[in-house]
Amino acid sequence: MAKLTKKDFLKNTIKHIDMKKYNVVPMVEAFENMAYASREVARASKIYNMMLSDKNCSVILCIAGSLISAGMKKIIVDMIQNHMVDAIVSNGANIVDQDFFEALGFKHYIGTPYNQDDNLLRDLHIDRIYDTYIDEDQLKVCDETIYKICNALEPRPYSSREFIWEMGKWLEKKGKGKDSVVYNAYKYGVPIFVPAFSDCSAGFGFVMHQAENPASHISIDSAKDFLELTQIKMKAKETGLMMWSGGVPKNFAQDTVVAAEALGAEIPMHKYAVQITVADVRDGALSGSTLKEASSWGKVSTALEQMVYGECTTLIPLIIGYGYHKGAWKKRKATNYVKFLQELDAKNAKAKAKKTK
Ligand SMILES: NC(=O)c1ccc[n+]([C@@H]2O[C@H](COP(=O)([O-])OP(=O)(O)OC[C@H]3O[C@@H](n4cnc5c(N)ncnc54)[C@H](O)[C@@H]3O)[C@@H](O)[C@H]2O)c1
Repeated sequence: MAKLTKKDFLKNTIKHIDMKKYNVVPMVEAFENMAYASREVARASKIYNMMLSDKNCSVILCIAGSLISAGMKKIIVDMIQNHMVDAIVSNGANIVDQDFFEALGFKHYIGTPYNQDDNLLRDLHIDRIYDTYIDEDQLKVCDETIYKICNALEPRPYSSREFIWEMGKWLEKKGKGKDSVVYNAYKYGVPIFVPAFSDCSAGFGFVMHQAENPASHISIDSAKDFLELTQIKMKAKETGLMMWSGGVPKNFAQDTVVAAEALGAEIPMHKYAVQITVADVRDGALSGSTLKEASSWGKVSTALEQMVYGECTTLIPLIIGYGYHKGAWKKRKATNYVKFLQELDAKNAKAKAKKTK
């Protein structure tokens, strides 16, 4: 038998689902009169639609797991373009290894978890995420691109939001990734925060940049991320959380209420909250903790919250698709929180310059 090559594995690409093509409203509304997960999906969809119908509410989307590699990119881009989301908190894998990676022109491929020889994949430089394949050599180009962006920036600490904005600017300059989350967030003024920014492809780029420039380099200021997201919460007042998976993004966004309190601001808890997850409540960990539990910490109001237990890729097109096809977003205006944060930065820089004169 002929020896298998990389080409034999990297044949069929993952295609991102277009929620605009499927009107799920009648089905989700039928779910309301059923039981178990279907009724949870119906309630979660209605709560998301309430977030979009409430003109005072800003929507914060929290993403963990591997969802862009799984075909969710277009849904996020449509949310950005149609003002269905005002800020994003994500893990690094989705934003850098998967979205920015595809923006560079690379793809994710349909693979299989069954009868798989992972040693052969290793030899061929193919990485596997359950049933998805990635060309590891292409992923290295992603690491190197981050390294180059680091080298080109003024050495100082950046929030991940500032750095991801620079990634969007880089894509615009290179004419790449028009269908990416990073580019569209840059274009539409939607801030993206990645609190654990080094824990992904970006980390390799930063390691190379810092090792080569020990005296003067750029770094990521995670506390600035937290302050910026808290400033958004304080400006927005009413907020709704749409949480996919769980992980660091879930807690980071929820905690802005507590951080605002620490700053002496009187702001409401997150008014609406939906979480889709397969995590279990019994281990006491964050990802599976219920939204009711979060209210005991003063983070989430209990009236309009819904946990939905299941895998995200089937549930997101239903819940977000319902919000899209109901059309409440048509009355929403762009919040452009990037501009708001940039104005705060400019004000602070001016005050600092005045002080040092
Ligand atoms: N996920 C990856 O493939 C990957 C790759 C490189 C780096 N990383 C880094 O590892 C760190 C942690 O990874 P993480 O953010 O994936 O968190 P995680 O693995 O802790 O997942 C968070 C929770 O979400 C649940 N979950 C994950 N995917 C789900 C899905 N599709 N549907 C429903 N529930 C789901 C998990 O069961 C878990 O309880 C991050 O910093 C990330 O950047 C992850």
